[in-house]
Amino acid sequence: MNAQILNGKEIAAELRTCVAKAVTYLNKQSVYPGLATILVGRDPASSVYVANKSRLAKELGIKSFQYDLEENITEKELIKLIDELNDNHEVDGILVQLPLPKHINTDIILDTIKPNKDVDGFHTINAGNLYLNRKAVIPCTPLGCLIMLRSLKVSLHGLRAVIIGRSNIVGKPMSQLLLKENCTVTVVHSYTKNIKEIVKESDIVVAALGIANYVKESWIKPGAIVIDVGINRIKENGKNKLVGDVEFDKIKNIASAITPVPGGVGPMTIACLLMNTVLQCSSNNNIELDNNNFKNFL
Ligand code: GUN
Repeated sequence: MNAQILNGKEIAAELRTCVAKAVTYLNKQSVYPGLATILVGRDPASSVYVANKSRLAKELGIKSFQYDLEENITEKELIKLIDELNDNHEVDGILVQLPLPKHINTDIILDTIKPNKDVDGFHTINAGNLYLNRKAVIPCTPLGCLIMLRSLKVSLHGLRAVIIGRSNIVGKPMSQLLLKENCTVTVVHSYTKNIKEIVKESDIVVAALGIANYVKESWIKPGAIVIDVGINRIKENGKNKLVGDVEFDKIKNIASAITPVPGGVGPMTIACLLMNTVLQCSSNNNIELDNNNFKNFL
């Protein structure tokens, strides 16, 4: 079987077009969405992600407020900045890029962002709402994965899904989203004894553990759908290369659908962040989006 390659770049571009339309609609009512991004330190990968978030926001007409802070900023100073952004009416979304340096308590920082300006869905209230199956801000990467799964137009009900990795950013919220889709969900992690066997029984595999080529071809059930969240930089034949958490070149011959790296989940994450920003903006301004712009995605 030759897997359908889920083109994240293309789906993300469609989603961004819908975001741009929603921005135009809001602008007509004198509402101008704004996104503040905060980067602490100089981690090269994080710097690239945040720069892309700001650039794409601007391209869609979302005002971008970019804060590149020194690694040694104190927790108190960071809280002060977030408090100011919470009170700034030009800002609808606040994103603090993770991970933060060790001297800063991530939980405190994430809970300082007002829940109605949280565009990552990482605030306790938003995470709780997702867990309780209430209206919630959905974390961008799992939302991007779900949109790609839905683009296949196959019923997900009753499918067995395995999520490899239990992070707050991807694994845990992804498990909630797939439960909501009526999948039977297993989350495996570094202490799980029989990962291979569990993966072999799964119709959907979401790999989000951050180890290059970890998931092997022999683990995959023929016809499974494989979503690769990993972005790993490796050296191959002396050249730098970006690879995912699964053996893409081999698995594509037995899966029914698979996301590539790059060009899969990555672009979807940013598009979902921009959608979340516009959704927060419209909801904070009590504006119903025109004929729900995002009906094909949410
Ligand atoms: N670091 C890795 N992924 C994410 C994300 O989706 N949001 C934030 N804020 N930080 C991240």
